[in-house]
Amino acid sequence: MSTSEYKSVDAEGDLPISAAELAALATQLYATSIRPGPDSPPVTTQVAPRGATPDATAASSAVTTAVGLAHPGTPPAFVSVPDVQLPAPTSPEPEAIPGVVPVAPRFSPSLRSPQERGNAASPIAPVGGLEAFAVPTGLVPTVPGVLAGGAPSAPPAPTHSPSLRSPQGRGSAPTWPGAVPAVPDLDWSGSPAPSDDAAGYYFLQTPTAPAEPTPALPDNHEIFDVNAIRADFPILRETVNGKPLIWFDNAATTQKPQSVIDRLAYFYAHENSNIHRAAHELAARATDAYEDAREAVRRFIGASKAEEIIFVRGTTEAINLVAYAWGGKHLGPGDEIVITHLEHHANIVPWQLISQQTGAVLKVAPVDDAGNLLLSEFEDLLGPRTKLVAATQVSNALGTVTPVKTIVELGHRYGARVLIDGAQSIPHIAIDVAETGADFFVFSGHKIYGPTGIGALYGREDALAETPPWQGGGNMIADVTLERSLYQGPPNKFEAGTGNIADAVGLGEALRYVERVGIDRIAAYEHALLEYATPRLAAIPGVRLVGTAEEKASVLSFVLAGHEPLEVGKALNAEGIAVRAGHHCAQPILRRLGLEATVRPSFAFYNTFEEIDVFIDAVRRIAEGSA
Ligand code: ALA
Repeated sequence: MSTSEYKSVDAEGDLPISAAELAALATQLYATSIRPGPDSPPVTTQVAPRGATPDATAASSAVTTAVGLAHPGTPPAFVSVPDVQLPAPTSPEPEAIPGVVPVAPRFSPSLRSPQERGNAASPIAPVGGLEAFAVPTGLVPTVPGVLAGGAPSAPPAPTHSPSLRSPQGRGSAPTWPGAVPAVPDLDWSGSPAPSDDAAGYYFLQTPTAPAEPTPALPDNHEIFDVNAIRADFPILRETVNGKPLIWFDNAATTQKPQSVIDRLAYFYAHENSNIHRAAHELAARATDAYEDAREAVRRFIGASKAEEIIFVRGTTEAINLVAYAWGGKHLGPGDEIVITHLEHHANIVPWQLISQQTGAVLKVAPVDDAGNLLLSEFEDLLGPRTKLVAATQVSNALGTVTPVKTIVELGHRYGARVLIDGAQSIPHIAIDVAETGADFFVFSGHKIYGPTGIGALYGREDALAETPPWQGGGNMIADVTLERSLYQGPPNKFEAGTGNIADAVGLGEALRYVERVGIDRIAAYEHALLEYATPRLAAIPGVRLVGTAEEKASVLSFVLAGHEPLEVGKALNAEGIAVRAGHHCAQPILRRLGLEATVRPSFAFYNTFEEIDVFIDAVRRIAEGSA
């Protein structure tokens, strides 16, 4: 073989040694005291043990001893986050408006119950204090232990009590070097399990046993202390065009809590290094922070192993990875890929491209006029040639929640691999990939209060085992000669080159933040927002809601007769209200509904009922021609 003939080695038959021996070799390389990467020379220097940097003094002395470097040892000068002074909630009653589309409960119980998800480590405590949360709206909630049942027996604590903002009041003091008093429960020297005390900080109801029948339930949006949440997001104090910012563009990207902003700054101030590649202290810190973030993702989505989590730039890169690497190997002429009509362009175009390359055929499952996926038509598309199903869990344009567990079951029944696009579901719905059974699950960090440019591909162990690398380079190899390369196992096999280390760490912090609040609580509050906004928007003359599926999450697309969506978006911007107006990178589904564009407000758990009132008034004025 000439030196220009590089041989990539993936199949066992190609290897000079067995795959098992290779795996053992790779593990041995990886598992040395500071986890040097495959590009590292053998470790000869003594360094401080990983994770043993509980305070700056210890870190400083360890570093000085090991490599003669001085650690700054000075806590970063973080700024406390003051409470936001917002007007007292007006507690609007969600009175019925005749002739409008109701919003049904969004979630199938199988996706949401910690018990059913079988996730013993779930941070969601079935506490009585939350049980009245969504009841007053008149819907029958579907989340056992969180939403069903009676009201708490204890009276609500006062809103915005200063004592609740103190570190003591949050149940645990920050322990990482240079702790930030204003941000609850941060410990960046490890991966602390979220505490229920911390989660309770955001709720005015102290967890108690449910009371016997109670005549008057508190209003649901008085129970969720949204002002405490808002205080964690500095950008929400911005003004736009002289008005307080109302951020209703959460489906495009979410805002970042101070803890994520601080975590990024802390990484660059104290931990920055390349990972897996060196014998020095900062490499150990950076590697630990990065791998802690991987563990945070694993826990958050219910994966069994950290090795099943691949860091990528985001959902788009994750889907392209599966399309080119898995699809490039397993798809051939006449094989079939099934997607749905609801998909974002990121879950359409890669499949078109790989179909063109391989001769595979792309099929599309239809939806009805409300945006519900037609399951029986979806099943009709499946057959012996179906190799892959790729479906979104929440439509970014309409908000439709799809029945992913059923989709996965049907796909598997026909022998297909199933990819679930979680870009829009990750901030709204409790995810449990093990329970859902998906082969691949993908999401972006910036949709869940984390940084841009980082996301994750979950691949079940067996699915990743049959996926070849898609990019070659450093970090992903076990051994390279000029004739051939041997690869690491997952996750490194799919993480060629220097990744987005700091933003992965920031994503881990974002997920911990969400865990502290509680994803089920977030889901219930956001559902109440959607339920409040939907009939009020629909009641404005000229408004047509776009997407009225039986199960929806946080998206309220609409068009307004006589006004282009872009015009409405600009008029709302004049009021300080940010929405997306356009095709939302989902042209097929909008065209299916006879449209090229919509106005799309999309809610997050830091939004308020008062903001919805401002938005509704603004749309009404635009409709009346007075804005
Ligand atoms: N996918 C993002 C959206 O829906 C950008 O707006």
